[in-house]
Amino acid sequence: MSTVRTTAELRAAVAAGRGAGPVGFVPTMGALHAGHESLIRRARSECALVVVSVFVNPTQFDDPADLDAYPRSAERDVAVAAAAGADLVFLPEAGELYPPGDATRVVVRGPLTESLEGAHRGAGHFDGVTTVVARLLNLVGPDRAYFGAKDAQQALVVRRMARDLRLPVEIVTCPTVRDADGLALSSRNARLSPAERERALSLSRALGACAEAIADGRLRHGAEAADAGLRALAAGGAEPEYFAVVDPETLEPAGPLEGELLLACAARVGDVRLIDNLSLTVPQFTDEPEAATREDRAPTAAT
Ligand code: PAF
Repeated sequence: MSTVRTTAELRAAVAAGRGAGPVGFVPTMGALHAGHESLIRRARSECALVVVSVFVNPTQFDDPADLDAYPRSAERDVAVAAAAGADLVFLPEAGELYPPGDATRVVVRGPLTESLEGAHRGAGHFDGVTTVVARLLNLVGPDRAYFGAKDAQQALVVRRMARDLRLPVEIVTCPTVRDADGLALSSRNARLSPAERERALSLSRALGACAEAIADGRLRHGAEAADAGLRALAAGGAEPEYFAVVDPETLEPAGPLEGELLLACAARVGDVRLIDNLSLTVPQFTDEPEAATREDRAPTAAT
């Protein structure tokens, strides 16, 4: 396992390792947890060379305080990445990815970036994500890049960007990793006090309760389900930003609750902003609807 800090070193190291089989890439902002480890292990199981980047990308933060507070632990991240199977860790300074005078942005327009996170964090959030991911994909040139389903909208936006730019990379989405009590793993969880962590459970609980109510037919319309989700978030002690029931490909709000659905929410707990989501399939709209969360079935490579 080696670490590199400059784009020149990164290109040279990837060129030296390329050829033995597919190159896998896991972009991260560090503070690695078991969710990141699962992405790196998946890449390890499918690729001959596994590259991980650790870079807290300033252009995707709408709030400077959030950027300052984002946990940073580069030394530990390198050890975690190595243990999970990475061959190469890229630890750039900001100037490596944003050279002086940088004036270029990669932007995906439309409902994919303007809804949910885009509506609440501002359109600039996804512009920052797609800009840095495009630069990283361009530098690494991977065959496969791995993203977590917890950031379902991010994975959709990145997939659309890669498709539109004709990038020769497969975007692989891996299942959300959760603590035993259901809390979705996030680097931000490290900032929760024990009492806040308890309140943070309201996200996964609201999603689960809403999915259950849809499954047993108590909720039959998207707007009604979104209202119930917002109430459940608040009742659990979080400050809701949104709770949405949408089409998992277009992110358009769902009407009658049938077929493939994505339940997505964001809420603040103290100073910490958290997101979570759940995929749900309602096979058909009958008097007694049956439903299954996709997580109940064998994990799929992509959403
Ligand atoms: O999901 C993240 O950690 C970031 O948004 C990413 C993809 C590494 C881009 O900075």
